[in-house]
Amino acid sequence: MAVLVCGGAGYIGSHVTRALIDNGEEVVVLDNLITGHVDAVHEKAKLVLGDLKDEEFLDRVFRENKIDGVIDFAAFSLVGESMTEPLKYFENNFYGTLCLLKAMQKHGVKNIVFSSTAATYGEPENIPILETDKTIPTNPYGESKLAVEKMMKWCDQAYGIKFTALRYFNVAGAHPSGDIGEDHSPETHLIPIILQVALGKRDHIGIFGDDYPTADGTCIRDYIHVMDLADAHILALKRLYKGGDSAIFNLGNGEGFSVKDVIEVSRKVTGHPIPAVVSPRRAGDPAKLVASSEKAIKELNWKPKYNTLDEIIATAWKWHKNHPNGYED
Ligand code: UFG
Repeated sequence: MAVLVCGGAGYIGSHVTRALIDNGEEVVVLDNLITGHVDAVHEKAKLVLGDLKDEEFLDRVFRENKIDGVIDFAAFSLVGESMTEPLKYFENNFYGTLCLLKAMQKHGVKNIVFSSTAATYGEPENIPILETDKTIPTNPYGESKLAVEKMMKWCDQAYGIKFTALRYFNVAGAHPSGDIGEDHSPETHLIPIILQVALGKRDHIGIFGDDYPTADGTCIRDYIHVMDLADAHILALKRLYKGGDSAIFNLGNGEGFSVKDVIEVSRKVTGHPIPAVVSPRRAGDPAKLVASSEKAIKELNWKPKYNTLDEIIATAWKWHKNHPNGYED
């Protein structure tokens, strides 16, 4: 039996695929390569190229492979773009997963682990954020993920498809081998952009606002290593296989770091001065997002191993140094 990893050629999907294979699982990676990279896919995974919204293709994938679990990463994830192109996000993220659930129902596949996001909460009412806190997304990206969570709840009730939604906070780092890592185009995330400055590919990092109500005035985020995230997916899938109920879990480290903290740690890790310039706020950035991951620690028996920002940035740096042009190298 195999695990179907939708979006397995992307940043998080490729790391989870690698962890599944290292864990002895058979993996089928489905990707349309719009944002994914063939070279990110582990050689032991079977790669099928196509789109979730292509129902005939999906039907064939389920007919030709013995799939007992699905992990779904296939989505667009640029918050800013989602504000100007909401339909692109609902079509790909919501309708794509709708087609996937339809195929699962048709082929009797009952377990799905879904890649959700802290963006489902919007402006947090409490820190740290609990899974039971209010979900009022402030952008179509978060709304499209929340809509899928709700759709899965009804698919559980009607068809008995069990789901685990994992709400990620700020995912960072790379596989410790430095073989796979983060390669987005355009890159919008803080850590890869800082490391591009260290590589001499950019002059400076722009700090988006230093007038937030935080100790140093810059935004605080909860950075979680991509391999710790991968472990959580495997635990979540195993829990479903054992008959676990549908559930939602936050995944973060539970510790907040400001933009200035991240730049400072990156200077230490890379030995590069990394010039920084304060620029205006980016629209829609909450001041502070920190997860409570107590539920995942307790119920999934999840033990994040990368507890310091230094370790997270060091693995990202190894990848970027080895592959300054990402998968083009
Ligand atoms: N930032 C800068 N300069 C940059 C890039 C980012 O100062 O050049 C700041 C941002 O303003 C933010 C922090 O660094 O305060 C982190 O920004 P990222 O873009 O790396 O990550 P986000 O927190 O915006 O986004 C992440 C995920 C999204 C998810 C969101 C949930 O990448 O997919 O968390 O809030 F939707």
